[in-house]
Amino acid sequence: MAKHKITLLPGDGIGPEVTAAVVQIIECSGVDVEWEKYFVGAEAISRFGDPLPAEVLESILRNKVALKGPVTTPVGTGFASINVRLRKTLDLYVNLRPVRSMPNIITRYEDIDLVVVRENTESLYAGLEHEVVPGVVESLKIITEKASTRIARFAFEYARRNGRKRVTAVHKANIMKLSDGLFLQCFRNVSKEYPNIVADDKIVDNLCMQLVTNPNQFDMLLLENLYGDIVSDLTAGLVGGLGVVAGANIGENGAVFEAVHGSAPDIAGQNKANPLALLQSAVLMLEHIGEIQPAQRIRDAIVKVLGMGPEVRTGDIGGTGSTMDFTVAICDVLRRGTRATD
Ligand code: NAI
Repeated sequence: MAKHKITLLPGDGIGPEVTAAVVQIIECSGVDVEWEKYFVGAEAISRFGDPLPAEVLESILRNKVALKGPVTTPVGTGFASINVRLRKTLDLYVNLRPVRSMPNIITRYEDIDLVVVRENTESLYAGLEHEVVPGVVESLKIITEKASTRIARFAFEYARRNGRKRVTAVHKANIMKLSDGLFLQCFRNVSKEYPNIVADDKIVDNLCMQLVTNPNQFDMLLLENLYGDIVSDLTAGLVGGLGVVAGANIGENGAVFEAVHGSAPDIAGQNKANPLALLQSAVLMLEHIGEIQPAQRIRDAIVKVLGMGPEVRTGDIGGTGSTMDFTVAICDVLRRGTRATD
């Protein structure tokens, strides 16, 4: 029996290509995984009449961990985002996005090493909107003590476990005194349990300005849902964009690890997709299931391969290589057991 059972949702578009690449790399790293593979999205509708069949949720609840490729969401009509459904149904209340500079990915700043923690279940994402009278609509921002406290606790626990020194809460409590005020108060309450970690806060507009002028001053950021959605993409842009950063949605019932980018229909099936973002998510997943050393070996291999020539990097990050060229290069480094510092 394999050591780990993990639910695998390849998704569509470039999803199957990048997940196949990542599965191959995990195998090369020596981690023993049995994958439970399921269709989601349009493919699942044509086969089972539901974009997110019940057996997928059951599998994640059973295994507690899933690796997910991107899924095309129809615009305006058709089925609702399965990502949002997964988060809501499984109560995946943490969105975790570590953001690090990478070799040979040229950006404005160097040595960026930030972790963004976004509350994933409430704020304006609660979807509570209605028309008051014709021409006037209302959208309700929900902030609760329970959700704000558990996300703050996750952030400080993550900081403690990963040697992080500072958590900055991001808010607009000067204007939204009740909602953002409660989020900030919960953060401050939890911070008292972690006297060794610096806890401070920034107003969201000021934070955005500071992130684009001096991003290295920050360590970890904690944000409610909507600010987190926007600021986490801004931080991804600081290190090369959505194609290179990892993402994870975590809760008590399970964790879904996925890249931040979409299904890229324009390059699907052409062996051009960059598996790096999903691979970085898979590294987070390996850490989450306790495979710390293989995770570190893959991290080292990524640094090593990105430091090689353009022939092993995909086009979106300035290379001339294919999905498979990158995958094979990472596997070669892993098999040789060469460390990035060699
Ligand atoms: P997208 O991220 O799929 O593509 C934007 C651009 O980035 C395209 O030019 C694409 O070729 C490029 N790109 C994205 N990922 C890449 C990769 N790994 N390697 C190389 N190039 C890459 O965003 P778009 O076009 O807005 O969305 C396409 C579909 O994906 C939509 O249906 C959207 O709803 C869905 N989507 C799904 C997500 C998920 O399942 N987590 C997240 C975001 C979008």
